[in-house]
Amino acid sequence: MMERNGTPKHVAVIMDGNGRWAQKRLLPRSAGHRAGLKRMISLSEHAFSVGVKYVTLFALSAENLSRPQEELDTLFSLFRDYFSGNTEKLKGKGVRLRVLGDPALLPADIAEMIRVGERETSSGRNGTLAIAMGYGGRQDILSAVNEAVRRGKPLGAEEFSALLATAGMPEPDLLIRTGKEKRLSNFLLWQCAYTELYFSDKLFPAFGNADFDRALKEYASRERKFGRI
Ligand code: FPP
Repeated sequence: MMERNGTPKHVAVIMDGNGRWAQKRLLPRSAGHRAGLKRMISLSEHAFSVGVKYVTLFALSAENLSRPQEELDTLFSLFRDYFSGNTEKLKGKGVRLRVLGDPALLPADIAEMIRVGERETSSGRNGTLAIAMGYGGRQDILSAVNEAVRRGKPLGAEEFSALLATAGMPEPDLLIRTGKEKRLSNFLLWQCAYTELYFSDKLFPAFGNADFDRALKEYASRERKFGRI
């Protein structure tokens, strides 16, 4: 029997297209990232307000760290602004912050801000905002495999999941990628095995709350079978 999906519990977003959004307006790429950050804040608030419990955002892949230093500096400075201004707000709203990825790949002061932000918001029960920075899906799986090898005994899927960066979080129900490309780009590879995929041509800064609602509506109409018939 076909079950209708309700609101997805966990939505993951690949926020692609900031650079192109800026270039189309003859602005520097940094302006696109700034606009992307603004959109990201409003979009995640909107997602929680419509009942999504986990929002995971791909802000920087491990591979993005080989972008030109000037662009990385812009992104790092946005991360600093974000963590210095928003941790308190998240705490006030009861939203737990989690950062996925290897903090050693980020500047030490940002890694420290993340540590404090995660600690300060750890009792949040109204929702979880996970931001992937310096994250790679393969790296995530490899580090879990290495830990499993260290433990020296075969693990089941649940035990294995608990070794990933997303430990304790449900798998994404819906993955949205903006910016026209249709690929996963080393995002949550293990975790997205049964995730519904939604691609939008809109560039991330132009992907509005109404666009998000359209994605939820489409999700609601999909039939999820998890390999069954
Ligand atoms: C991809 O667009 C986007 C990024 C690499 C960065 C996304 C970052 C933000 C939205 C700001 C995040 C801030 C915090 C605090 C998490 P692109 O630059 O690859 O765009 P393009 O494909 O058009 O070049």
